[in-house]
Amino acid sequence: MITCSAPGKVYLFGEHAVVYGESAICCAVELRTKVHVEKSDDIIIESTLGTTGIDHAIHPYVSYAIEKMQPLADIKGIRIVIESELPVGSGLGSSAAVTVATIKALDLLFECKLSLEDIAEMAHEVERMVQGNASPTDTYVSTMGGVVMIPQRKRLPLIECPIVIGNTNRFSSTKELVGNVAKLRNEFPDIIEPILSDIGQMSLLAEELVHEKDYGTIGRLMNVNQGLLDAIGVGSAELSDLVYAARNNGAISSKITGAGGGGCMIALAEDDTASSIAKAIEDAGGEAIITRNTKEGVRLETLNGQ
Ligand code: PMV
Repeated sequence: MITCSAPGKVYLFGEHAVVYGESAICCAVELRTKVHVEKSDDIIIESTLGTTGIDHAIHPYVSYAIEKMQPLADIKGIRIVIESELPVGSGLGSSAAVTVATIKALDLLFECKLSLEDIAEMAHEVERMVQGNASPTDTYVSTMGGVVMIPQRKRLPLIECPIVIGNTNRFSSTKELVGNVAKLRNEFPDIIEPILSDIGQMSLLAEELVHEKDYGTIGRLMNVNQGLLDAIGVGSAELSDLVYAARNNGAISSKITGAGGGGCMIALAEDDTASSIAKAIEDAGGEAIITRNTKEGVRLETLNGQ
């Protein structure tokens, strides 16, 4: 049996603006989806969603990933078991992580010798097959790990402070929110375009600050980014509650991560403030997870149980 894992991601800066070609900074987090694979008589996929064969309704990402690998590997029978620390559908990149980890595990089991670039590319194609349209960001960051500037694909140094995630547990549709921003931009181009451009400028400014590990200034800019996300209409009362609960309890900064509407927010913390920020997020009705930026993207966990 081979076990591979791949991380989820958060946005420090730039969601929504990146749709219009502006820069964003994404950060892989140490919350992983693990995929165990072994050869078997039939194709079997097991997760908390159930046990199926190839099933594009229940296990779409894994099913399409197997089909994508079939021209390269003689996959007749295979048992795949999925375990995830990432909440599903909350903007943390759970679908990218399961896709990337499945492709890597099949690559190793069938000795296809794919490069990381190949894996990122194939995983992006799988996401497009499932979703119709998908940005390459999640699959790229999950494959490569670390901190990545998008669309340049520039690797930046690690963010070395705890990151507290607050999940509203409210479903958010990326497609719908991206559509709402597009409508607003069409209606008020002279107002919305500068906002999106300012968000992109913040990512560019933050690049140097990440090198300098100046988390205080990064945090001030993240808070400005949060204000601009609210301005373009992707906030919600629940997200604001969690954002301010974090800020009022010692967070360096806090903002929405991903599409907004529902989903998650993040706070940058110090080692000694992370748990009180997490508690404040929980008291404000969210579900908190304390995590960190991880330099490792997709990786082999164990080979034959070792
Ligand atoms: O919530 P997520 O992880 O799907 O992030 C969406 C990020 C957007 O910039 C809003 C859309 C995109 O495709 O980049």
